[in-house]
Parts: sequence; structure tokens; C-alpha cells
Amino acid sequence: MERDAAGRLTYDEPDYGDESGVRVTGRARTAAAASPFGGERNPDPCSLVMFGVTGDLAHRKLIPALYDLGCHGILPFGTTLVGYGRQAMDDEAFRSLMQQAIDDHYGVEVVDGDTCERILHRPRYVQGQFDDPEGFKRLAAVLDELDGRGSRGNRMFYLATPPSQFPVLVKQLGAAGLARPGATGGGRGQGDGAGPGWTRIVIEKPFGRDLETARDLDRVIGQVFDERQVYRIDHYLAKETVQNLLVLRFANVIFEPVWNRRYVDYVEITAAETLGVEHRAPYYEEAGALRDMITPHLIQLFSLVAMEPPAAFDADAVRDEKMKVLRAVRPIPAHAVDDWAVRAQYVAGRVEGKQVPGYREEERVAADSYTETYAALKLLVDNWRWEGVPFYLRTGKRMARRITEIAIHFKRPPVLLFRDAMAGGGLQPNVLVLRVQPDEGFSLTIESKVPGHAVALQPVAMDYSYGTTLNELPFSAYETVLVDAMEGDMTLFTRGDQAEEAWRIVGPVLEAWVSRPPRSIPIYEAGSWGPEAADALIARDGHTWRRPTKGDER
Ligand code: BG6
Repeated sequence: MERDAAGRLTYDEPDYGDESGVRVTGRARTAAAASPFGGERNPDPCSLVMFGVTGDLAHRKLIPALYDLGCHGILPFGTTLVGYGRQAMDDEAFRSLMQQAIDDHYGVEVVDGDTCERILHRPRYVQGQFDDPEGFKRLAAVLDELDGRGSRGNRMFYLATPPSQFPVLVKQLGAAGLARPGATGGGRGQGDGAGPGWTRIVIEKPFGRDLETARDLDRVIGQVFDERQVYRIDHYLAKETVQNLLVLRFANVIFEPVWNRRYVDYVEITAAETLGVEHRAPYYEEAGALRDMITPHLIQLFSLVAMEPPAAFDADAVRDEKMKVLRAVRPIPAHAVDDWAVRAQYVAGRVEGKQVPGYREEERVAADSYTETYAALKLLVDNWRWEGVPFYLRTGKRMARRITEIAIHFKRPPVLLFRDAMAGGGLQPNVLVLRVQPDEGFSLTIESKVPGHAVALQPVAMDYSYGTTLNELPFSAYETVLVDAMEGDMTLFTRGDQAEEAWRIVGPVLEAWVSRPPRSIPIYEAGSWGPEAADALIARDGHTWRRPTKGDER
């Protein structure tokens, strides 16, 4: 490392071999490395320190996402992966483990060796306990060394560990002096305050178990890091269609005038999975569907659907608007939680043609577990835009189909002109469906005339699909999350106050469910669309849940 004429520290660019062109393997996509909101993606190089690097999340999502970024030429040179963990291994063994994650994800025959070389270029591994100051001193020494290898003093700490480890890791980073911006110059330090290079901490959900623990965690984080350094991940917000929701709402004039209580009847937000708990039973047993999916993900999706237009497309403006609508959510009455929320657990059944065991039969799940694998929640918003419009949120494991979508159901026309022409079930109101996954896109159903002499009506769907219309696969959520954090763009990350507000919203439900364990938890068959109680919840307001089947956009 040397100083240039202006006295700034400079470093030698390592040799990464041929850097021309972008190779695409695994996921077919054009090479455009552009931000969905314009501008080229241009993240800073950094030392990317991962805690929990031997865990499921790193193996299945983070390391493959890094590989994807490498494939698309977006991963900046000078970025080094640093693992910190309790397991004993050297740098070479760490590299093999990471290589294994990529091979497992894509299949060894399609993995591009040059890209792997670029991502796993001299990775480092530091062995240490999470509460061992000596381990953090060793980590600090490695990071200082890497500043001379191109990280420009930029450091990103990624906490992919169980949430119980967050406080101790944050405290140790603080005690080791690692929360401050790095030692050498060059990073843009966007929004992180003054100082050479930047230091950011990326935290996986869940942010606490309830309002009180979320506040405790924020307090610990706040003692060590400035809020501008803290990136709380909600990977759902990084999904392409979710980002497109903002474009749909605020870059078109036709939706916003009808996006309110005058025209919208009700809104459904669904995240249905066909998977069970896989290897995560110990975590899931503690969490359950309400904490795992509704509080962090679906409430965030809700806030994007319901928020007012922000004054600008920047992190503060967007997050301020989301916060305002979260505050406007009517408190769920503690004495009537059952009218607002439903929980259930799956029993054995057939999912996608395969027989699967019930939740209580899953490995490491208690035989008398009360953990809910399905949760549905009704929200009302006390503001001028949404007064009286129910928002129904539901999520479940081992459901009939893997689908995440937002469905805006519009009201019927005020006058039914075609009363005689409506075959069978009557006029179908318009529905706008945003498909978050799979088959990202959206569809709008409208009534249309059936060709012929008679005036007969039939709903038809105007459908737009990313895959076919733009011939392009969207970025994976974790690619987006990593690049945004490296660029210092906080728009898609959850602010501390939002996380707390989400706990405020679900608080009465959590309390009721903990203090009043049912004699037997309601059940639903694996491979179904959930429990009867959830159908009853929405039926009380005269509505039904959608049950989308493949190719059926309505
Ligand atoms: C995670 C939850 O946040 O999201 C998991 O902890 C869930 O339980 C996962 O399976 C779903 O994410 P995705 O992106 O696969 O829909």
C-alpha cells in the first residue's frame, strides 16, 4: 500500500485474470448491471465479514448470491470474503466450503471456475467464539491487512447467525473498535458519517421476538453503531416485483386515482410455501409463522401497498411514508384477537403429489408443539385513504402451491348495466394481482364481452410476466440486498422504528396466543390452502381467499 500525490492511500489491484465481459451461468439473464431505478450498479469493494458462514442461510442464499453477482460482473474487485466462526478450519478449507455451496446450488457442471476464482479469491477465515475478545482482535488484524488488498477500508459485517447471537456480536464488534469506519481511505462512505472508508452492519431478521426485545436489540445496536450504518434485511423488499410495486404505483397515472377506499374493496397479501421447516426446526419452533413471515415480511409488503406517495425516491422519504401508514394501523383489540387472527399447524398430506409428514412428525419438532405454521391476520388502517378497507395477510408452510402475491380487489361498478348478460356467478370485480414469486409479473382482470350475438360477459386477464415480456430474469433478492448494502442504499432495508412498529401491530396477537394456548391447535392438511378458521375469518366480511392455480392468474 502506498500514498498517492494527494496523500491518499492506494493499493495494488490483485490479479483476477480476464475481467472482460460478463459470463452468465446458472441463471439466464442479460448482462445489464443496472439498478431497477436507473443507473449502473457500482458497489464499493469491501471486506465482507460473515458471521454464521457455516449455516443454512450462507450456504443456500448468500454465497450463491455472491456467485451470481460475480457472474454479472457486479462484484467489485478488491472485495474479500471473510468468515468468522467457531469451527476450526483454515482459509483453504473455508474456500472449499464456499465452493461447495456454489456447486450445490448450481450443479458443479455449470459453475464457472473463473467467476468462483474472482469471488473466492484468497478468502480468509478467522476462528473464534462469538464472545471472545481475542477472536475479534484477530479479526481486526485481518481486516487491517485486507485494507491493503483493495477493500479501501470498507467493511461490511453480515450477521447470518441465529438472532440470539446478535447482541453479543454487536457488543464484541464495538469493543474491538470495529464499528468505526475503516482505517484507510477511498470508500464513498455514503451516509455513514465522516471517516475513511465505511463500516456497515447487515442484520438478518427476526429483529427481536416482540416489541420489548426488539427495543432491547435496537438499544444494543444503537450503543455501538449509528442508525445510518445499520441495514436490517427484509429480503422480500428486495424481490423485483415488490420494487416494481412502487414503479407501478408512482410512475403511472392510472393506478393512483383508484388506489383508495373509494375503489378498493379489500386487499390480500399471501406468502404460501410448499416447503416445510426443512433443517430449521429449532429456530422455527421458537418463531412460528407470525414472527417468521408476517411481522418481518408481510407487514412490510403491506406498508408498500398502503403508503402515501413519498416526496422523493430516497431511503428517508420512502421509509418515512411506510412508517406513517404503519402507525395508522388500528390496534388489534386484545379481547377479540380471534376475530382478527388465525393460527394453525399442518398435519400430514400430499404436497405437489408427494406424501409429506405433519409438522409434529418433522425432525427436531416437539411431539406436542403448538407452533403455528400458518397465520392469517386482518388489518384496518385508520386514515383517509384506507378507512374501512380490510387488508388480509396470510402465510403458511406446506400449502397447496408456492406463491407470493398481492391482490387488490376493486369494488363493483355502482350500476349493473349488464345484469342479464352475466353468465352464472354475476359480475366479477376487477382484481390487480402482483405476483412476487414465482413467475414474477402482474395481471389485471377485467370484464369482457364473449364474442357472439348475445351480450355475455366473461372476465379476462391482462397479464404481464417478467420472464416472457422482458425476456429477463430479475435479480435474486439476496443479490439486490448485497449490492444495495455495498452501495449504501438503505431504501429497501427496514429502519429500527419500522421493525418496532410491526411488533406493535402483532403484539396483541402474540400475547393472546402465548397466554391462551388452545386445547388443540387448529390444523390444516399439508397441500391444502390452510385451515377452515382462516376461511371463516375472511368470510365474515363477505370475501374469500384466492386459491390461485398454475396458469390461472385470477
Ligand atoms: C424467510 C423465512 O425469511 O423467508 C423462511 O425465515 C421462509 O421460513 C423464507 O421459508 C421464504 O423466503 P423466499 O424468498 O424463499 O420466499
